[in-house]
Amino acid sequence: AAIEYGLDAPFEIEFHDSIGSTNERARELADEGRADVAVVADEQTAGRGRLDRGWSGPSGGIYTSLLLRPDVPPAHSPVYTLAAAVAVTRAAREAGVDARIKWPNDVLVLDDEAERGGQKLCGILTEMEGEADRVAWLIVGIGINANVDADALPDGATSLLAERGEPIDRRLFTQRLLETFDDLRNDPDSILDAWREHAATLGQRVRVETPGGDVVGEAVDVAFPGALVVETDDGERKRVTAGDCEHLRP
Ligand code: BTN
Repeated sequence: AAIEYGLDAPFEIEFHDSIGSTNERARELADEGRADVAVVADEQTAGRGRLDRGWSGPSGGIYTSLLLRPDVPPAHSPVYTLAAAVAVTRAAREAGVDARIKWPNDVLVLDDEAERGGQKLCGILTEMEGEADRVAWLIVGIGINANVDADALPDGATSLLAERGEPIDRRLFTQRLLETFDDLRNDPDSILDAWREHAATLGQRVRVETPGGDVVGEAVDVAFPGALVVETDDGERKRVTAGDCEHLRP
């Protein structure tokens, strides 16, 4: 059943019981010239993931897309995706779930002390249209496995319900998420430090598949607007801006 989204949030909320994709809907709103809208759905039937993958959207999840028009150059847009990962992680931690961020923006619950792997709690898909020197619109799409039963989850995924053993209040969770995101976007200089605080990837040995080939080494830092800094075995520091990241065994 749908929950009430009469949220007191720093965004206008457009709620749907069920929708194809909140990112698609946010795109329509962008074309209408709107800004600062959070499209929120209880269920998604045609959710989209990164790298042309799908994203399953059973009822009980939190599916939201934030439509933003920040007055920044297009190159700065990745920092908003990091901010969304931080906002989800903080809300999950407040709900008692030990969530951490895998670069760039997967939110995981780690499955052992060595912190290599983890099960995915949330994925983020950011889409952007740029004008010459500023962002025209930015859509940050956030899919959280909230009150989703373990048997409805894909392999490698977990949910807040599975971790806690009891459901969360999705309305409150969404409210906290939007408030934290709003605080971060109003103070962009704080985003990288907040990300570092919750990172699972820093200090790990990683392999990042990039268009220019694999980069293997120790993840030592994150750099504005969202690059992973990897120290390779020959001591060179490389900045990786995009790619799939895997935590390796030491
Ligand atoms: C990923 O591949 O990890 C990103 C998944 C992003 C899913 C969210 S759910 C809300 C929003 N609407 C979509 O269609 N996708 C994003």
